[in-house]
Parts: sequence; structure tokens; C-alpha cells
Amino acid sequence: MTGTSARPTFGSVAPTFIISPAPVTSLSQLRLLLAIESSCDETAAAVVREDGKVLSSIIASQHELHIEWGGVVPEIASRAHVRRILPVIKTALLDANCTLQNLHAVAVTTEPGLVGSLLVGLTAAKTIAMCLQIPLITVNHVEAHIYACGMGRSESIYPCAGFVVSGGHTNLYDCRSATECKLIGSTIDDAAGEAFDKVARILDLPYPGGPSIQKAALTGNPRRFKMPRPMIRSGKLDFSFSGLKTAVLYAARGVPGPDQLSDTPSDRVADLAAGFQEAAVEVLVEKCRLAVRQLGYSRLCVGGGVAANQMFRDELSKMARREKVEILVAPMELCTDNAAMAAIAWDLLASGRIATLEANVLPGLVRY
Ligand code: KG4
Ligand code: ZN
Repeated sequence: MTGTSARPTFGSVAPTFIISPAPVTSLSQLRLLLAIESSCDETAAAVVREDGKVLSSIIASQHELHIEWGGVVPEIASRAHVRRILPVIKTALLDANCTLQNLHAVAVTTEPGLVGSLLVGLTAAKTIAMCLQIPLITVNHVEAHIYACGMGRSESIYPCAGFVVSGGHTNLYDCRSATECKLIGSTIDDAAGEAFDKVARILDLPYPGGPSIQKAALTGNPRRFKMPRPMIRSGKLDFSFSGLKTAVLYAARGVPGPDQLSDTPSDRVADLAAGFQEAAVEVLVEKCRLAVRQLGYSRLCVGGGVAANQMFRDELSKMARREKVEILVAPMELCTDNAAMAAIAWDLLASGRIATLEANVLPGLVRY
């Protein structure tokens, strides 16, 4: 960010977006890409150099807008994206010390996600591509989550087994390259992050549920309430979390047993959070183990918000040692939604995958 430029605030009405004259830049001769992400409840923009260096990454989270609903409300999300997208882009450019005229290309998440939210990002990206006459690149959000595991590394992470575990996805992939990820397993009901969010709501813990449950579980006894591990021995790569969520609901409503008479409500919440977290993590890790075995790869790359969970990270590391596989988990700041991981667009550009202004959003998950 330049010293004289004011940093826009994301909560206010978007300021007028002015395309200023091309400045003299001394940054480098390397080309720059602006990436935009608005698939769910984070409005994000990043400037990424063609060597993969992230020059700026701005994330305007909407958590405070959805907190009272205990989950993302699509209409609220898309309206907030509309208000925030231009200030976020402007700040990303300022932080990277560049302007629109320095950009070589613009990338945007177009799938999967909430339709109204995706459309806001796509419209902004198309406008920039059209005005500047630069390439538009459309990015698959789940492929970008896996790609994030390799950012900052010199060697390629592909081929690998990929696992995207977030509020919207619990998907296992056979990833032959950055842009060839085949879905091999997913949830038949709730996504893992969605289960964390719903269980937090049952336990009266704040949204987003993942971090709240992780915190509450620190002081809890995971063995006190017996929790199911749905589909853990099915031999399949699919997941199910609704039964586990219901088990927490029944246990939370249950009357404390004779051994629990001295129980305080906070003990109960901590024990339920710990029991749920342990069960969910056990299922996630077991399916990862199965996927790596079935695919025969020696590497598993894990991304998405739930990958920020410490117990999950620890259990994955133990599994990696047992199975003698390498596990790459995206760095903390790249686990949850961000635009920097749309650096995958450089690979897409290199393989000629430039979108036209006819590009549309694909809200659903595509199995190919
Ligand atoms: O990837 P992400 O930011 O957005 C989606 O694409 O969904 O993931 C958000 C999800 C939320 O469901 C949140 O509860 C979960 O990731 N999450 C966690 C943790 N941090 C975020 N789940 C478990 N443990 C965490 N520490
Ligand atoms: Zn995501």
C-alpha cells in the first residue's frame, strides 16, 4: 500500500472505482495477476506474480453478518459481496503497490459456490478484463484449495490424492495435475465444516463452529459421550455426518446420568464438543488413509477450512508416519477461503484455458 492512499473500509458503501492512468512501476518485470474470490462468505482479492509470489491478499470476512443465523445466508452473502468487492480489490492493488494497468490477467472463482455470491466476483472480473483487454481466467474453487498446499514450494505437488474439507465440501480427489482433479468421494449429506457449524449451534457456541468447537473441546473429555463414526468401515470413500450431528443433539438434550449430577453446563458442552471433534476427525483421517491406499500415491494434499483444525492436523501427521506417505496441509492462512490460491490461474493460462466474456458460474459440484 502506498503511504498516501487511504485504505477503504469494507463495511461501508463501495467508493467510486476509478481506473487511473498507468503508473511507473519498479516492482519487477514479472507479470501480475489479480485474483478474485467470492464463492461463499468471504470477499477476497489477491495480486499474484507469475513466479507464484503473493504480493497481496485481502479477505473481508462476513462472519459477523451470519453469526446470528448460525450459518451462511445466501442473500445476505451476495449483498455484502456487492458492497465489499470494489474496496477489497482496491486494497489488494494498493497493498501490492500496483494499479489495474499493471495487470496481465484477471482470475475469478466461478465454481462451485453460492450462485449470487459467485456472480458478484465474476461480474467484477469480467468488467476488469473487458476494460483492460486482458485475459479472463475462471477458477474451480476446490482445485484451488488443493493447489494452495503447494504454494511456496519449488516442486510440484502433483500427482497426489487431494482432500478439500470445508463448510461446503468434503471431497476426495485423484489429482493428476493442477487442472485434472477427479472426484472420487464426497459426503452424502452434510459437509464436515457444516457439521462443525451445526453442532456449534446445538451447543450454543458461536459461528463459525469449527474454531469454537476446537476451543471448547480443549477442556472436554471426548470419551464421556459415545459418538458414532458414520461410514468409517464402509470401505468406500464417501462420508456422512448427519448421524453424528443428531447424536450430539440427543446427548445435548439428554438428562445427566447419576454419575454426572455435579455436572455444570459448561462441562457438558466441552465434553460434547470433544466427543464430536474426535469422532469427526477419526472419520476424516480414515477416509484419507483409504484414498491414498486406493490411489497408490505417496502424497496427500489437504485444504479447506476444516484443515485448520489442530486435532485433524495432528492425527493426519500420525497417519502419514504409519502409512509412510507425505501429507501437505495448506498453510493456515491459505486453508480458509482466500483469493491467493487462485494463483492456480497461472497454470490455467499456461495451458491456454482463457475464458470468454460469455463465461458463467457453475454453483454445483461437477463430478467428472
Ligand atoms: O474453506 P472455508 O473457509 O469456506 C468454505 O468454502 O466453506 O471453510 C469454512 C469452514 C466452516 O464450516 C468452519 O467451521 C470450518 O471451515 N473451520 C473449522 C476450523 N476453522 C474453520 N473446522 C474445524 N476446526 C477448525 N479449527
Ligand atoms: Zn472454500
